[in-house]
Amino acid sequence: MSEQIVILDFGSQYTQVIARRIRECQVYSTILRYDTPAREIARLQPSGLILSGGPSSVYAEDAPLPDPRIFRLGLPVLGICYGVQLFAQFLGGKVEKGLKREYGKGTLTIRDRRCRLFTGLPGALQVWNSHGDKLTRLPAGFRSVATTENSDYAAIEHKAKRCYGLQFHPEVVHTPRGKEVLSNFVHGVCGCGRDWTMRNYIEQAVEQVRAQVGREQVILGLSGGVDSSVAAALIHRAIGDRLMCIFVNNGVLRAREAEVVQEVFGRHFRIRLQYEDASRLFLSRLKGVTDPERKRKIIGRTFIEVFSAATKRAGRARFLAQGTLYPDVIESVPIGGNPAAMIKSHHNVGGLPKRMKFQLVEPLKCLFKDEVRQLGRELGLPNEIVFRQPFPGPGLAVRILGEVTAERLTILRNADRVIVEEIKRSGWYYKVWQSFAVLLPVRSVGVMGDERTYDYTIAVRVVESQDGMTADWVKLPYALLERLSTRVINEVKGVNRCVFDITSKPPGTIEWE
Ligand code: XMP
Repeated sequence: MSEQIVILDFGSQYTQVIARRIRECQVYSTILRYDTPAREIARLQPSGLILSGGPSSVYAEDAPLPDPRIFRLGLPVLGICYGVQLFAQFLGGKVEKGLKREYGKGTLTIRDRRCRLFTGLPGALQVWNSHGDKLTRLPAGFRSVATTENSDYAAIEHKAKRCYGLQFHPEVVHTPRGKEVLSNFVHGVCGCGRDWTMRNYIEQAVEQVRAQVGREQVILGLSGGVDSSVAAALIHRAIGDRLMCIFVNNGVLRAREAEVVQEVFGRHFRIRLQYEDASRLFLSRLKGVTDPERKRKIIGRTFIEVFSAATKRAGRARFLAQGTLYPDVIESVPIGGNPAAMIKSHHNVGGLPKRMKFQLVEPLKCLFKDEVRQLGRELGLPNEIVFRQPFPGPGLAVRILGEVTAERLTILRNADRVIVEEIKRSGWYYKVWQSFAVLLPVRSVGVMGDERTYDYTIAVRVVESQDGMTADWVKLPYALLERLSTRVINEVKGVNRCVFDITSKPPGTIEWE
């Protein structure tokens, strides 16, 4: 078992970012609810404890409070923002309601260069603040080691107790050297090594899968997306031919999608792959349907039906593998003002019903997305799979506005292929979150040669985003936009107009339906 840092989540929108930063320092981290009993934390034998920030005030009636015994575990502690105010209050310091929120960039002046948190850092750092309450008196034994314009206690220390507090956020990108502060905490203060790497994880995960599965068979629904692909490669490494992957063609896939999956997994990795072409069934059920949510429901339900039937044909398996990731299993703390606690229900279609009598194998359950990509690279998957852009479960059906027909699918596939090709060639594909074509059911008049045309419109959508929750449209160079438009109109039959979507999210969504 690797060394680990436990992060108690008090509802900060940045808790997962803290966890990722710690792992980037090659130390494993786990997020637990703020009120996890000290006994449970002790059982994990962590090397240190981090108390996250949070939207509450320590004075609020419903302020989330930890088990006070966590301060007697003898572990190094780092409190961030709300976290430092909490422990200051617990240990006898004073926190006052700030009259105005300290928000935004600030400069941290380091008063004690010997403080372990600041090893290797200059005397002044740019930091990001976001807090309402203010620490005004330190608890006994603590001293201030750094200040900002607005606070004498921007960083505090109790050296003997190995207890530290930061009023600013070291985890966000607006604190450019914050990762070094966190690294100093986990390596310098907690004494952790650097054993959390995906190369080490492969060995550990392979052992776990073998121990869980024994001599039994495992079934995995392969979508071609990053998560299920990496899960397949990992499980295959562990149990070889006792893994059977099922790939369902739902008729609304992109051009060549089914072929790529068969080439990579079937021919290259030699993973047993059962290909279920159910496109006709899906398209017949989508006939006449224009409402986006109905499309999603039909596709979700039909998928379950087709997949269930396929598992029966796949042989006797007791286990079902899924590419569940860590953010899906962290118990989010629903404290007001924490956008990370919002759940997007429409993205959960396609989940398999509980009545399917399988035990789950989830070898990516403790990984973040960027770790899954690294793992995929270590396992030898091609970039085309590991760094591919997200693609919605309901596929092209939510990119064809109005009814999904065979003719419209062909038009959209052709347009999408051209766009992806150009975006890849120009080097933008791996820099953006998503880049794709949308088919609008609007026809307009044009001229081509001497002929009048009356054809469909393609909208090009290219966005940048961290997690899909918010997004901005990408300012592509005009020359590239021109090439996209020229090629789409010249090469895609049925299209005579091309527009570029300049809507950010919010207020727009990334997909058009
Ligand atoms: P929106 O359109 O809500 O999309 O801004 C945010 C991200 O989620 C993807 N998306 C979906 N993924 N099933 C999925 O698996 C869906 O029904 C679905 N709708 C949107 C979208 O591609 C983007 O990355």
